[in-house]
Amino acid sequence: MKPWHAVLAAADDSLHQALGRFGRFRILLVVDAERRLLGTVTDGDVRRALLRGETMDAPLARIMNPHPRTIPLNTPRSAALTMMKSLDIYQLPVVDQGVVVDLLILSDMVELTGERPNWTVILAGGQGKRLRPLTEHLPKPMLTVGGQPILETIVQELAAHGLRRLYLAVNYKAEIIKRHFGDGGRFGVEIRYLEENEPLGTAGPLGLLPERPVDPLLVMNGDVLTKADFGQLLAFHESRAAGATVGVRLFEMEVPYGVLEFEGDRVSAIVEKPVQPFKVSAGIYALDPAVLPERPVPLDMPDLLRGVIASGGTVTGFPIHEYWIDIGRPPEFRQAAADFDALFVGS
Ligand code: GDD
Ligand code: MG
Repeated sequence: MKPWHAVLAAADDSLHQALGRFGRFRILLVVDAERRLLGTVTDGDVRRALLRGETMDAPLARIMNPHPRTIPLNTPRSAALTMMKSLDIYQLPVVDQGVVVDLLILSDMVELTGERPNWTVILAGGQGKRLRPLTEHLPKPMLTVGGQPILETIVQELAAHGLRRLYLAVNYKAEIIKRHFGDGGRFGVEIRYLEENEPLGTAGPLGLLPERPVDPLLVMNGDVLTKADFGQLLAFHESRAAGATVGVRLFEMEVPYGVLEFEGDRVSAIVEKPVQPFKVSAGIYALDPAVLPERPVPLDMPDLLRGVIASGGTVTGFPIHEYWIDIGRPPEFRQAAADFDALFVGS
């Protein structure tokens, strides 16, 4: 028996019988024999009923709110919490086709807020070819930046944002990663592995998840050092009801020449070394569970995102203004090492 079962009541129970059963839930769930929710009784409902002149013998059917707020089974915890806060409600029954299956209590949820329900997949299986020979003996995510593997910094950052259920998608030199991280206990997180027999690209490994997550999934590249606010990215994703949300960086590229503009064969303008701004993918994504591949087939993230768009879904972009660097090429690898202490030490 779950603790909240104590607050189940019948419509013909009297107020007298039911009082005293509120307990810490401060609500009664009035249900029929099949546990279908008929209404809820809070102490506010009791007070209003007594003011109306109801007596202690009145059946709960006359006292309950027959149209209480509920949420469907499998609603993301974060969405439930947002709803409870915005409506200023303390309890929220979870129903599955009208039947009560759980009761969420704000105080329990607030304890949870440090802890996000979302799972994270970190892509850590690439060959790191651009960083050879450094990556001949170590996979790129295990390269040291600031005295520890970059993947360890990623894990710490995720944990600091309450993301503690992590999957590492591994392939190239997987053993080295597994030996270092184990089950994650040493880092205060829970780590499981998605192991590919052949490289599946940056989205294919998601088809190896043992079950479909309930909440949106955070996916990120294992070679990105960032102070991005993952919680905000997930909240943004949910607020847009998007199929997928991509973290976005601004990338400016200077043309190293004088650029000529023409009208026919006449030069109409000359722009010296113009800077072209691009919005680029930061390799950090929130994905609705429905868009995840069901099987482990080779698939890259751009193809997954194109698929979402092609099937009429929404892909949104979430700007990342905070520090962000992809260490995948030698200059950025050196830059990250130089930046590290100012950003990550003591964080
Ligand atoms: N498990 C697994 N399997 N991981 C992989 C595979 C694979 O087949 N291929 C690559 N990865 C991992 C790499 O280890 C790395 O952590 C991450 O996926 C991204 O791969 P990179 O090889 O570093 O890609 P990129 O930097 O050229 O481009 C990606 O990141 C950019 C942002 O840094 C793309 O996502 C770009 O769209 C993005 O702009
Ligand atoms: Mg990269």
